[in-house]
Amino acid sequence: MSPDPTTQSNHLSVTTRHLSLEWTLDFETRRIVGRAAYELELVGKESVNEVILDTAHLDIHRVEVDGKAAEFTLGPLHAVMGSALRIALPHCNAMEKQGIPPGVGSVLKLAVEYATTEECTALQWLDKEQTQGGKFPFLFSQCQPIYARSLVPIQDTPSVKFTYEARITAVLPVLMSAVRVSPPSTGLPHDGKEIGKEEVEYVYRQPVPIPSYLLAIASGNVRYRPFAVPKGKAWTSGVWAEEELVDAAEWEFKEDTTRFLEAEEKITTPYRFGVYDLLVLPPSFPYGGMENACLTFVTPTLLTGDRALVDVVVHEITHSWFGNGVTQANASHFWLNEGWTTYIERLLQQILRTPAHRGFSFLIGSKALSDDLKRYESQPKYQRLQIDFEHGENVDDAYSRVPYEKGANFLLHLERTLGGLDIFLPYVKNYVETFTGRSITTQEWKDHLYAYYRTYGTKDNMQALDSIDWNAWLFGEGLVLPISMEYDMGLAYQSNALADKWNSSRTVTNLSELFDAFDLQGLDTKQIIVFLQTLKDFSPLPGTHIDFLGNVYGLTSTPNSEIRLRFYEIALLDSTSPAAITYAKQAAAWVVGKEAASQHGAVKGRMKFCRPIFRALHVADRELAERTYLENKLAFHPIARNLIEKVSTIVLFLVLSHTSSCNSD
Ligand code: BES
Ligand code: ZN
Repeated sequence: MSPDPTTQSNHLSVTTRHLSLEWTLDFETRRIVGRAAYELELVGKESVNEVILDTAHLDIHRVEVDGKAAEFTLGPLHAVMGSALRIALPHCNAMEKQGIPPGVGSVLKLAVEYATTEECTALQWLDKEQTQGGKFPFLFSQCQPIYARSLVPIQDTPSVKFTYEARITAVLPVLMSAVRVSPPSTGLPHDGKEIGKEEVEYVYRQPVPIPSYLLAIASGNVRYRPFAVPKGKAWTSGVWAEEELVDAAEWEFKEDTTRFLEAEEKITTPYRFGVYDLLVLPPSFPYGGMENACLTFVTPTLLTGDRALVDVVVHEITHSWFGNGVTQANASHFWLNEGWTTYIERLLQQILRTPAHRGFSFLIGSKALSDDLKRYESQPKYQRLQIDFEHGENVDDAYSRVPYEKGANFLLHLERTLGGLDIFLPYVKNYVETFTGRSITTQEWKDHLYAYYRTYGTKDNMQALDSIDWNAWLFGEGLVLPISMEYDMGLAYQSNALADKWNSSRTVTNLSELFDAFDLQGLDTKQIIVFLQTLKDFSPLPGTHIDFLGNVYGLTSTPNSEIRLRFYEIALLDSTSPAAITYAKQAAAWVVGKEAASQHGAVKGRMKFCRPIFRALHVADRELAERTYLENKLAFHPIARNLIEKVSTIVLFLVLSHTSSCNSD
């Protein structure tokens, strides 16, 4: 059985080398219909008489092996794993007829004709009303962690990497996680054909082997704006967005994307994917960013007009090396993707901005980490950096800031213990050079770290490594890091002072004497976030103070979702206060895009926003939470729906267990 707890495929016997896709996107019936062809290589020692692929909610029409129709069965549907597609291998070559199994290295050709269904978790088909432009529908995928299997039958494990090509026919422009072959990105939109009416074939090729979770497709009325690229680079870069947003998107990202990509090459290795494009998705996109190969997907909530949230783009750029280059072998080692990426993303902040920017990101992260560690108090296993999942366990249940923040702090601790960046950065480059193109476990990472300093380091370096409490960092549970970390607090000073001032104003009645809109002058989005997060850590403010806080700084009407979220979290902190009832209504309207003032009616589909709001609403006013969700369910992405629905059962459980323990007192 695979060491990957989330796949049923027999990838240890036979592995995917190349995938060819021929799809038609049908916006009317909301299906992708087509064919996937595979080049598989035999890699196991034992002979193999079937290929098992992962699928979920797919209609399988026909299977071919080496060009001939083949028998197949579709196993029962497992809620997490999906259905195993078992394809019998005929004894086709002469050697095998004599009982000699085909040798390691033999290549097998397989093809599956199939269609997606309404249940496919990877896909969200949006009505035109759910887009920015309101004129055309939109389709996008999200395959990480284990949803590629609902897009195409596949060995859905990050330990297998393959190249791919795709021919996609659609009436709207199509984007994929690959290099565009035709028509050209910078040519006429939709190759000069009528958008929404006429079909165009889009051809893509991904010559760099990628794991299945980096497969991606999007289709809508999108336009392209190329960025200026530094001289001598072999890659291009630009941004895609719906026609109505593309200018704002270009402005938000054009300065930083190529600058950070170039800086990243200096500390690692040259960028390998040829194209680094961004795509701004509609508001229901469930993540901040997703590092699909060649084409990072981002939430439109990054378009704040002040470039304050570009660190999400820096994060996704960094995945080009950490994740897309060196890949986690399976979900247990997710921190190798996210912890490394977070560590390097913040290192770039230090190099291109200031050390204070690096410290500031760690500070913001530490608050989010402690919230999530608390959230997992009853499931301490998910407080670990390396998580040993059961076969079939839902890895999305463990999705939190823990792998990001514990991982980044672990690497920062290693950097400091070894003696700083001069000693650590050459190792980072060697790590990337050694493992790019491969999928590795935490043990392989650690073995290489030791081997590197044994070869290139000093006795002191080895002693430093031996002084690390590996067990506490990798398998420790609890509410704090194994070591208390210190960060550069330069940028937090003003935010903390303002939070302290509010905290000590509890008995003040005339608040306008103490606070006015100028308090926030000179603070950027991030500093306002820290101010509000710090305030949230104090005991709840009186209702009068919350009203004043919201009004004086315009927090109840800001279009900046990061700030609005923090305000509602404060306002809903004391669920028994009358203020909570008022703000629960506001927060509910905001999260589903139904505020009176809202023009676009944009749902806050990014899980970072909708999950905490639904969690808080469930405590403050459960009936309102459930009604709001049920009336707007379809506006959320299937992945977000799943997790929001869990909020409901978990909170219900907590409320019930709390009540019963109160009763027994
Ligand atoms: N790869 C992740 C998104 C992801 C992780 C999707 C696991 C599905 C399963 C992406 O790189 C990411 O970390 N996004 C963050 C933004 C980042 C700046 C921390 C997000 O969406 O919040
Ligand atoms: Zn990430």
